[in-house]
Amino acid sequence: MPELCVGERRWVVPTGSNLLDALNDAGLHVPYSCRAGSCHACLVHCEVGQPLDAMPEALALDKHALGWRLA
Ligand code: FES
Repeated sequence: MPELCVGERRWVVPTGSNLLDALNDAGLHVPYSCRAGSCHACLVHCEVGQPLDAMPEALALDKHALGWRLA
């Protein structure tokens, strides 16, 4: 199962979890609005690992390549 690490926190989430929901369920208060890849309010940086991205076209290729994701 995938593991999320934010600061000192580390926890496992079920495979196929929505990243935004997993982060917010853990109390991290990631902002969001559209939940559809339009507003970019949920932009997060993934320092290690490559979470599956259901809509990679929603983010510029250069940002995607640097590890940014729309949670
Ligand atoms: S909530 Fe709008 S892009 Fe994620």
